[in-house]
Amino acid sequence: MKIGIIGAGNIGGNLTRRLTALGHDVSVANSRGPESLKALVEETGAKAVTATEAAKGAQVVVVTVPLKNVPDLPAGLLDGAAEDVAVIDTGNYYPKERDGRIDAIEDGGLTESRWTEQHLGHRVVKVFNGTYAQDLLERPRPAGDPERLAVPVASDDEAAKQVVRALVDELGFDTVDAGGIDDSWRQQPATPVYGLRAGVEAVKRALAEASPERPAAHRA
Ligand SMILES: NC(=O)c1ccc[n+]([C@@H]2O[C@H](COP(=O)([O-])OP(=O)(O)OC[C@H]3O[C@@H](n4cnc5c(N)ncnc54)[C@H](OP(=O)(O)O)[C@@H]3O)[C@@H](O)[C@H]2O)c1
Repeated sequence: MKIGIIGAGNIGGNLTRRLTALGHDVSVANSRGPESLKALVEETGAKAVTATEAAKGAQVVVVTVPLKNVPDLPAGLLDGAAEDVAVIDTGNYYPKERDGRIDAIEDGGLTESRWTEQHLGHRVVKVFNGTYAQDLLERPRPAGDPERLAVPVASDDEAAKQVVRALVDELGFDTVDAGGIDDSWRQQPATPVYGLRAGVEAVKRALAEASPERPAAHRA
């Protein structure tokens, strides 16, 4: 598949490594420009491009920048993507440590991914937001392996959700359907499933046990 990765940090870098190794055609972008991605390009064979170029013609676009930087992404970012592009959002809101206060999330009751959707002007598939970046390299397992980890996947775009679930399976993880984006608070930071390393049944239980209240430590 033609995949554009926007953000080349912990998650974007490791997804670039894994997805190129699986044979996908990967373009990757950061904020400092393609020149600064020389080492990752040499290591993986991915193409270093601008964010708009990464999205161009892509069947899957991964948005994996800090939440506070989502509004900095170019307007019309996804206009040139494939018509049925699946847009993965790995983002989390860390008001105290990184992102500052975002009123629409704090007071407006928006889930973190709904807020991101509004900035991107496109539906997203929320996945890997609670997965340790290193696990993408170190913990993939074949289907059926009892040690295989599962991750929740939430989206209102059912077709895109299916594309992403198949890709996550290819990456070596099981998936659990976590509903739509209004349900995705169940997998945000400080929920039981966030950072959980477990299989399908435990992930389902953790999603069911989540509380909608954002703990003080995760409020601005
Ligand atoms: N780290 C984890 O284990 C982990 C796990 C799950 C989810 N997440 C979430 O996933 C998101 C990314 O996390 P991360 O740890 O991978 O972040 P990170 O290591 O800080 O990397 C962020 C990347 O985003 C790029 N970026 C920032 N603004 C940009 C812009 N305007 N245009 C293009 N690229 C831009 C940065 O480029 P420059 O370096 O050039 O500025 C950098 O490559 C966050 O929301 C995080 O909470 C992280």
